[in-house]
Amino acid sequence: MMPANKVIIDTQYDGQGPCNDNLKKLYIHTFGCQMNEYDSLRVERMLAPEGYITTSDPKKADLIFINTCSVREKAEQKVYSLLGRLKRIKARSPHTIIVVGGCVAQQLQENLLNRFHYVDIVIGTKGISKLPELIKEVQNTRKSLGCFPDHEESCGMEWLSPNTSQWKTEIVAPVTIMQGCDNFCSYCIVPYVRGREYSRKPEDILQEIEILLEKGAKEILLLGQNVNSYGKNLDPPITFANLIKLVAQKTKVTRIRFTTSHPKDLTEELMQCFRDVPQLCPQLHLPFQAGSDRILKRMNRRYTQKEYLTKVEKLRTYRSDIAITADVMVGFPGETDEDFRETMKVIEEVQFDGLFSFRYSDRPFAPSSRMYPKVDEKTKSRWLTELQSLQADITLKKNQQEVGTSREVLVEGESKAGNGQLTGRTPQGRIVNFYGPKSLIGKIVVVKIIEGYAHSLKGELQKQNN
Ligand code: SAH
Ligand code: SF4
Ligand code: F3S
Repeated sequence: MMPANKVIIDTQYDGQGPCNDNLKKLYIHTFGCQMNEYDSLRVERMLAPEGYITTSDPKKADLIFINTCSVREKAEQKVYSLLGRLKRIKARSPHTIIVVGGCVAQQLQENLLNRFHYVDIVIGTKGISKLPELIKEVQNTRKSLGCFPDHEESCGMEWLSPNTSQWKTEIVAPVTIMQGCDNFCSYCIVPYVRGREYSRKPEDILQEIEILLEKGAKEILLLGQNVNSYGKNLDPPITFANLIKLVAQKTKVTRIRFTTSHPKDLTEELMQCFRDVPQLCPQLHLPFQAGSDRILKRMNRRYTQKEYLTKVEKLRTYRSDIAITADVMVGFPGETDEDFRETMKVIEEVQFDGLFSFRYSDRPFAPSSRMYPKVDEKTKSRWLTELQSLQADITLKKNQQEVGTSREVLVEGESKAGNGQLTGRTPQGRIVNFYGPKSLIGKIVVVKIIEGYAHSLKGELQKQNN
C-alpha cells in the first residue's frame, strides 16, 4: 500500500488542558498499513487531553507506543528488533512506559510480556480506546498488563476523544471506515488479528471528515481492509459507492481516495463513481496477488485471472486515465514456474502504474502455512527480482509518458530531498516535485511535467487553482 502522508499542518497545542510544564512526551513508532497509521493518530488524539505531546526522540519520551504489523514474517521481525533496542532506553529511564499495540500484540498477547519483560502494556487491536485508563493503572501499580477485548465498544466519534481542538491533522487525512476482514485469504493473518469486519456509521464518518476539513485537510483517504464490503452489516445497510457520494455531496472535500479494494467485491456501482464523482481521484489499488487460477483458488481469493482482467478493462472504460496499482506475491506454496508466468502475464497485460510485490511467508493461523510444497527462498528471490524488473520498466515508461502533460497537484509540503522543492500528488497519485513558494502548501496547483523518473516526476509550476 501507498505510505501514509506525513505532512502535519496543525501541531500547535491550543492552550487548553495542562500547561506546558506538565506536558508529557509521547513517542510513537508505527509499522504496517495505513490503518495502523490511523490507529496511531487515534492514540495521539486520545492522549492529547491527558497532557501528552509527541516527540521524535524515544529517549525523551514518558510514553512509547509501538504499533506493530504481523502481515509478513519480515514485518514481525522488524518489531522484535525495535523492541530489542528499547531495552536500553528502559534501563536508562525506568519511568518510561512502553506500550505495544497492533497486530503482533494481538497475535502474541501475554506471551509478548514474557519475552520482553520491560514492556509495560500489551494492548490488542480492539483495546486502543482503553489506553488512557491502562496507563493510569500502570502508573499506580507499576505492574505490566495486557488487554485484549474481543470487540471494540464503539467505533463512533468517541473513538477519537471529543477534544477536537487538540487534534492534529494532515493535508491528506486518513479516516478508517471499517475494521477487520471476513475474507480469509488463505495466506493472511489479518482476519485473525483484526477480527470480523464491522463498519462505522456514515454519520460518524461524515462528522470526522467535517472536523478534518475544518482543520485544513484537503484530501480524505477512506480506509479499510476491504472497503468494497463497507456498510453491509449496518442498519440500514449502505454501499461503499453511496458512502463516497455522501462524502462528496455533504462535505467540502477537494479530493477523495480509498484503499483497499478486493477485486471480487468491486461492483459496477463503485466503478461508475470514477466517472460520476468529480472529487474521487482516478486511482485504484486493486491487489491481484497471483495470476494463476490454480494459485488464486488455493489463496481463496474467489476470482479468476479473466475476471480480474475484465474488471480492469471495464474500469478503464468508465475512466480512461485511471491509475491502477496492486499487491502481488511470489512463492505461494505449490507455485510453479508456469504459475509464476501467469503472474507475469497479468503484469504485462494490465500495465500497472505501480506494484507492491512480496515474497510469500508462512503466518501463524493462516491455512497456507499448512500447504505444501513450500517454495524455496532462492526461487522466491529469483521470481521477485524478475517481476520487479518488469514492473520497474513499466513504471518508468508510464512516468515518462507524463512528460509534457499538465496535472493538477495537491501540494502536500516540502520535498524530502531538502532542496527547496515542493511535493504533491497528481490525481493519479504520482508524486511530483517542483519549485514554488511554501504558501502553496495545501493548495491545488497546475504543474507541467518535465521529467519522469522511477518513483516520481519533476514538474514546473504553471498556475494556482484556488
Ligand atoms: N486487505 C488488503 C491487503 C492487506 S495485507 C487486500 O486484501 O488487498 C497487504 C498485502 O500483504 C497483501 O495484499 C498481500 O500481497 C501481502 N501479504 C499478506 N499476507 C502475506 C503473506 N503471508 N506473505 C506475503 N505477503 C503477504
Ligand atoms: Fe488479508 Fe485477504 Fe482480508 Fe486482505 S482481503 S486483509 S489479504 S484476508
Ligand atoms: Fe499489518 Fe495489521 Fe495492517 S498485520 S498490514 S498492521 S492490519
